[in-house]
Amino acid sequence: MAVRIDGKSIAARVRKEVAEEVAALKAQGVETGMAVVLVGDDPASAIYVNNKKKACAETGIYSEVHLLPKETTQEELLALIARLNADPKIHGILVQSPLPAHLDEKLVVEHIDPKKDVDAFHAYNVGRIMIGDYTFLPCTPAGVMELIHSTGVSVEGKRCVVVGRSNIVGKPMAMLLLHEHGTVTVCHSRTKDLAAVCREAEILVAAVGKAKLITADMVKPGAVVIDVGMNRNENGKLCGDVDYEAVEPVAGYITPVPGGVGPMTIAMLLKNAVRAARLQNGL
Ligand code: GUN
Repeated sequence: MAVRIDGKSIAARVRKEVAEEVAALKAQGVETGMAVVLVGDDPASAIYVNNKKKACAETGIYSEVHLLPKETTQEELLALIARLNADPKIHGILVQSPLPAHLDEKLVVEHIDPKKDVDAFHAYNVGRIMIGDYTFLPCTPAGVMELIHSTGVSVEGKRCVVVGRSNIVGKPMAMLLLHEHGTVTVCHSRTKDLAAVCREAEILVAAVGKAKLITADMVKPGAVVIDVGMNRNENGKLCGDVDYEAVEPVAGYITPVPGGVGPMTIAMLLKNAVRAARLQNGL
């Protein structure tokens, strides 16, 4: 039976550390500030943005949410970003994804000042991650690393398999594992015999967005299994990419969904915000 990795309590510990750091900065006259931009009325995005706002309030971070109508033009959005880039109260800027189809998400991200890019999505920060010399860690992969560290299992020399090659999770995840000296394989939709590759993993990270993709026969006994998936099952219940019930007896450690990676993403975002505030004030 696997040890269940409790993302909720690990995230609570990170948030407490962030709150202490925010308070210490405040004592030095710096109030950490974050701006969250949401364009349109996607209900899931509205929930995510609200959770970020609440998390800022709980850790003492000043936040402002910019809700823009779905008809917002590219020029209007870029003008807002330019204002936020120049605003000394704001240390971190996050533009909630996905944007409405008429807006160019890549261009928008490239207009965020890399020093305020708390998502670490800007090409400059992505490049810094590639060379292992980074200011901001991408939130979800950084959260996964915290969860792996919590197990006490060292990444060094381990066979690591990341399933999924997205720019925001799969690719940076592979880099962070590589920086800790894992032997990393990245799998994707065209990987041949995914099950055989996964079975070699001592650390398996699933980040595809497909319920029950990872079945028990794909997991090496004793492996650390991290589930980044956020899917709805046939009953509308939140579930990950891993068939939890079947995999749990095989794995050594496993994250649940919900309560695993999810709570870590916001915690790491807050950590980036306070880091941004510190750096922008020469501290
Ligand atoms: N949409 C879903 N997850 C994220 C995230 O981590 N950052 C941003 N900006 N948008 C998202």
